[in-house]
Amino acid sequence: MCGIVGYIGGRDAAPVLIDSLRKLEYRGYDSAGIAVLNGGGIELRRAEGKLARLEALLASAPIDGHAGIGHTRWATHGGPSEANAHPHRAGDTVVVHNGIIENYLELKQSLLGRGAALTSDTDTELVAHLVEEKTARGMDLLDAVRETIREINGSYALVFLSQRDPQRLIVAKNASPIVVGAGDGETFIASDIPALLEYTRDMAFMEDGEIAEVRADGFRILDSERRAVARPIRRITWDAVAAQKGGYRHFMLKEIHEQPQAVTDTLRGRIALESGAVDVAELNLTEDQLARTRKIHLVGCGTAWHAALVGKFLIEELARIPAEVDYGSEFRHRTPLLGADSLLVPVSQSGETADTLAALGVGRRQGARTVSVCNVVDSSLARKSDGVFYTHAGPEISVASTKAFTTQLTALYLLAVRLGRLNGRIPPDAATRLLEDAMRLPGWIEAALKLEDSIHTLAHGLSHADNVLYLGRGINYPIALEGALKLKEISYIHAEGYPAGEMKHGPIALIDEDMPVVMLLPNDHYYPKTLGNLKEVEARGGNVVIVTDEPDESLAPEFTLAVPKVPYHLAPVVLTIPMQLLAYHIAVHRGTDVDQPRNLAKSVTVE
Ligand code: AGP
Repeated sequence: MCGIVGYIGGRDAAPVLIDSLRKLEYRGYDSAGIAVLNGGGIELRRAEGKLARLEALLASAPIDGHAGIGHTRWATHGGPSEANAHPHRAGDTVVVHNGIIENYLELKQSLLGRGAALTSDTDTELVAHLVEEKTARGMDLLDAVRETIREINGSYALVFLSQRDPQRLIVAKNASPIVVGAGDGETFIASDIPALLEYTRDMAFMEDGEIAEVRADGFRILDSERRAVARPIRRITWDAVAAQKGGYRHFMLKEIHEQPQAVTDTLRGRIALESGAVDVAELNLTEDQLARTRKIHLVGCGTAWHAALVGKFLIEELARIPAEVDYGSEFRHRTPLLGADSLLVPVSQSGETADTLAALGVGRRQGARTVSVCNVVDSSLARKSDGVFYTHAGPEISVASTKAFTTQLTALYLLAVRLGRLNGRIPPDAATRLLEDAMRLPGWIEAALKLEDSIHTLAHGLSHADNVLYLGRGINYPIALEGALKLKEISYIHAEGYPAGEMKHGPIALIDEDMPVVMLLPNDHYYPKTLGNLKEVEARGGNVVIVTDEPDESLAPEFTLAVPKVPYHLAPVVLTIPMQLLAYHIAVHRGTDVDQPRNLAKSVTVE
């Protein structure tokens, strides 16, 4: 997620903007820029890379003025570059934007048809042109913004500055956060609280569909009908680090709760429901190249390997293409059989994991096409792959991967639909249904997150266990593995994930009253078999926690966690949520360093 700041008041704007952007650096970015309004008009300074490069630019070419906007950008539409960095300008109008404009192609065509001269690949620049052409005809800036947001679909936090209207900034919000900070004779804007804490703790939080008019002596928030909204000013008492955690105790818990938004952002702009099409521009593979794919090799490490395992089920069952899965560390040292009709899909949050990068090299040397599923724009893996399917999870700070994992599953689901549409295995109407299901994922995740209170209770009882066994079947067997990994890596409890059907081939010897068993039991086609495993565990005195979408009073587990009933191929995403929450609350009970567990790094960049 990008960072937005704005300022209007008595101070010199440039240093305030830079300082505020620095407080948002933890969110990650690959370019930055500011625009400041002074007597001579608006001046922009933008740079690829980190803030230090923008500061060097400002040192050599300073800009004075008391009103301005600034932005740090994670590239989504258009790679990182000075031209694609925000703010974007059209005539007298400049704008910064967080979010994704879904109908940008249609807007771009109509603007080009009206002779607009575009200078970037971004969806944001289009918004500057849409407002500029209205204010150039004499329309009031606030009305021009109101008219413009009626034309755009998608998520946005937008801040506008105009040479025609130097006394105010105009802010528009929909699905991307924005906060207005009240100062003494000065007013601040930011996409997140940490940016403002040094200047003010008095903040108002805008809601979706609202527009704010921000002046040095104050601000007013209006609804879509231009009616004033009485929004209370809250006194924020957090310290800076707590603010980065958004008030959550740990980054991991914040990132668990960010998953509805992260999955929404990963879906956004990539689905055409009416045609059942999936469009991911950065895949960079022609339809012919994708259609000629005869075998897919998924590779990853840790949680990313679990995502790859789910990907195998999705690709084989939806697109009917054979898929193999390997640990990066195994794949890189064996002699896999790939060729020009192979598609190698490395999965990695960081895009810097040494074993996964090495696996990419093996695949490329054997002539395979490569598409990485990655969360960090322009990471080594993204740069070295033929194409990339970016998960838009935003920076994941906690070592334990959560929102990156569920967005990887989302990306692999969309990739499977795309492949199935290309090879004809998924007809348009079936694809439309699959994509409509995907669009409901954020709501299902929200529902699963509501289990947190009961999981907090359950976690207390489990936090003294020395060993825990996780069982699942089919597409959810990798989620048993993921649940076990989450628990072991942050609570230091030994945990194992197993296919439930493997019980009788060994793990059942472990079952006794001291061995809690977490069983994934959705009412899918495996249900009768997994129910049999449940009975086997109970018959040996095991304590079972079941995670199910159809609680059954006739069962007598120690604990039941009821999740929403979802289509089979999306169940892994929803079943993961209680796994994450259980591991988190057990670790908190045990007092471990949840965000920075012992011996672990966020990205294993060495073999
Ligand atoms: C997951 O919670 C762990 N942090 C770890 O297994 C991680 O998934 C693995 O190191 C792969 O990292 P990557 O996704 O950045 O490649």
